[in-house]
Amino acid sequence: MKKLAVLVSGRGSNMTAIINACEQGTLSASVELVISNNEDSLALELAQEKNIDTCHLSSCTHADANLLDIAMQQVLASHNIDIVLLAGFMKKIGPKTLSAYKGRLINIHPSLLPKFGGQGMFGLNVHNAVIDAGEKETGVTIHLVDGEYDKGAILAQTAVAVGVEDTPESLAAKVLKVEHVLFAETIQKIIDGSIILPAN
Ligand code: GAR
Repeated sequence: MKKLAVLVSGRGSNMTAIINACEQGTLSASVELVISNNEDSLALELAQEKNIDTCHLSSCTHADANLLDIAMQQVLASHNIDIVLLAGFMKKIGPKTLSAYKGRLINIHPSLLPKFGGQGMFGLNVHNAVIDAGEKETGVTIHLVDGEYDKGAILAQTAVAVGVEDTPESLAAKVLKVEHVLFAETIQKIIDGSIILPAN
């Protein structure tokens, strides 16, 4: 059984979808650890209700970015984590954690990358930009994390149609529904070997 850590910043609906998929057995893994850079995130509360170990790691807990990176690497190692999922995590991963989990850090992004990715492209900003650009379709991307925002190898994508009536909020809701399915499906494909991650 693969051990997952989920990194979150906010409400954690993708984290909840992953936990549910593990509980239902459609994802043969267990969420062993949830880390948030935001002490007040709803996701931390939800994880604690499920008796999952949680950890707040941010510039508030570690003012030095290098020590923060080391702390993240250590807590992941102490839980024997196999795969790290970034589920609405809005911070860059430090170089030590990146190197320790190279090819095993996976992010979900609410657009069809490489479109509408990069710094500042998160949450409603993405859907606003999609509508402003007059796109007919957007979607969800699951990709490996490297040192840059939204640049790592793409593992899976699903398109979502943009309707003329769509607002950023309605589009976010449509895309989120797809995120909840695609994330768990992709992780399961990695676990059962139908998606092969690059060797460390
Ligand atoms: C999700 O839409 C996720 O794709 C997005 O943040 C939201 C988190 O929602 N991530 C990014 O924009 C990353 N650049 P959640 O906390 O309910 O899972």
